[in-house]
Amino acid sequence: MYEHDVIVVGAGGAGLRAAIAAHEEGADVALVTKLHPVRSHTGAAEGGINAALHEEDSWDLHAYDTMKGADYLSDAPAVDTFAQTAPDEVIQLEHWGMPFSREEDGKVSQRPFGGLSFPRTTYAGAETGHHLLHTMYEQVVKRGIEVYDEWHVTNLAVTDHDDPEDRTCHGCVAYDIKSGEVAGFHAPDGVILATGGLGQVFSHTTNAVANTGDGQAMAYRAGVPIEDMEFVQFHPTTLPSTGVLISEGVRGEGGILYNDDEERLMFEYGYANNDGELASRDVVSRAELTEVNEGRGIDDEYVHLDMRHLGEERILDRLENILHLAEDFEGVDGLDEPMPVKPGQHYEMGGIETDENGETCIDGLYAAGECACVSMHGANRLGGNALPELLVFGARAGHHAAGKDMADAEVPIGPSAESEDGEVDTPVTPGAISGSDEDAVADGGAMADPEAVIEDTVAQEKERIETLLERDGINHADVREDIQESMTQNVNVFREESNLKDALEDIREGRERYQHVGVSDPSRTFNTDLLHTMETRNILDLAEAITLGALAREEFRGAHWRKQHQERKDEEWLKHTMIQWNDGTPNLYYKPVILEGKEQTYEPKERSY
Ligand code: FUM
Repeated sequence: MYEHDVIVVGAGGAGLRAAIAAHEEGADVALVTKLHPVRSHTGAAEGGINAALHEEDSWDLHAYDTMKGADYLSDAPAVDTFAQTAPDEVIQLEHWGMPFSREEDGKVSQRPFGGLSFPRTTYAGAETGHHLLHTMYEQVVKRGIEVYDEWHVTNLAVTDHDDPEDRTCHGCVAYDIKSGEVAGFHAPDGVILATGGLGQVFSHTTNAVANTGDGQAMAYRAGVPIEDMEFVQFHPTTLPSTGVLISEGVRGEGGILYNDDEERLMFEYGYANNDGELASRDVVSRAELTEVNEGRGIDDEYVHLDMRHLGEERILDRLENILHLAEDFEGVDGLDEPMPVKPGQHYEMGGIETDENGETCIDGLYAAGECACVSMHGANRLGGNALPELLVFGARAGHHAAGKDMADAEVPIGPSAESEDGEVDTPVTPGAISGSDEDAVADGGAMADPEAVIEDTVAQEKERIETLLERDGINHADVREDIQESMTQNVNVFREESNLKDALEDIREGRERYQHVGVSDPSRTFNTDLLHTMETRNILDLAEAITLGALAREEFRGAHWRKQHQERKDEEWLKHTMIQWNDGTPNLYYKPVILEGKEQTYEPKERSY
């Protein structure tokens, strides 16, 4: 068994930042990650980092934009903490050597981004995430923080008290992809989940193949509520053939969207008469798909993003990476031609319920970054808010886990007297297949010593892996592909009740088929078939949570559009969707949104751009 004070699972932006913060507090901290840190998906973030750095800008303006972008489904204490702290985090990165793009006078450049009332997006060309990752990885190496790379965490070592809020997380179990070893990790001060997104729930996504929602699914099965999962962001500009991201930075620099009639669609059809291409992402994605659905799309599939008028010098200076992506993946020269783009899954606004210090309702278990929901993105995240979020809340989780005395959090966690039961009419029974052997928590019990809980979880995970390796079953890839297709078809930008129900039926069938999956490759080294088979279980659980939340929420808010419910209904629906897995059954409940911030109460207004 390995032991460190704090274990951080995942080494993208949130994980690296959390590890550095925990180390600053004097903790012995280790990163356990299924990829080498600099291969983490944060490296694919292109456009930038929002922070109110300019003297004419202010944190409360940033907070207001974030609340409005979120269609008022964010918790104000989290949003305010975020907007107040983001500038310090950007300055910290600058001091660590992040190669930000700069103006002639040497100041860090900032560009406009969707839904922002001030150009506050700092960037490093169109490879911001890549540079952020390398800058922080250098700091991890400099501090001598131990990294277990190519170790896939398969489960959390959590006590099995009946009430999830009485449980304690003592560590985790991981599978060494290089050797096949299954080992326990004891973390007396806490485990911080920083495993990123879940884009592989969908077939058309900007996310890497590694983004299978492992942290969300493990926390969910261990009893932590997952919050607002129905709010999935579809980025307006992805390449049609692959889902590769074409940064919002292109529109931030002045790029224009055209339909097949060469009309500037955002203005021509009144989708966003003020901000045009720089409306928030949910608005732009719906606009593009409306164009396609009304016959003004190109090849019945996409629209054009044109940046030629920006000129070669500016494009090479600020967006060079975009030229390479368009050329390599679509065969289009962005200097000479417009680029084909369409909406694709990009980001999950919901996630593991946490407070502002990264704590979950299970003692010793934290989460930060895209896998977490604090909640600050609400019903729609603004472009450029993901990177500062993972810095701000990654750092807070790291400090807190390592024992720093933090201010009390204001965002409540776990079910409370204010929670309201939820109801949803489903065509099939959601949750685990009865009789399945997939225990989520260890048999350690209330008084068990931490090492016994971890050993028990190691034994469960070894058995699970052996069963997968020995079973002469079906290949998980068929199950995964069917779920991804169904989610893209049925739980996309435009949502209808019958489609959501179809998706639930497909997920149920996927769960049944998953009982019979087996791994044909018997190898113990680099067995990617085994790795992906384990991940597919996570995809199934999260696809179901997204769809359940979407079916239950009968309103149109932010990224969640419902054909039969075309209005935002604040009286009934200004509340967070919570789904908690109790012994295999997903329980739906709701908790209130907190609109009262540090300096103002955010009154929901009509949202237009
Ligand atoms: O479009 C982009 O560059 C993506 C940025 C983001 O998701 O924050």
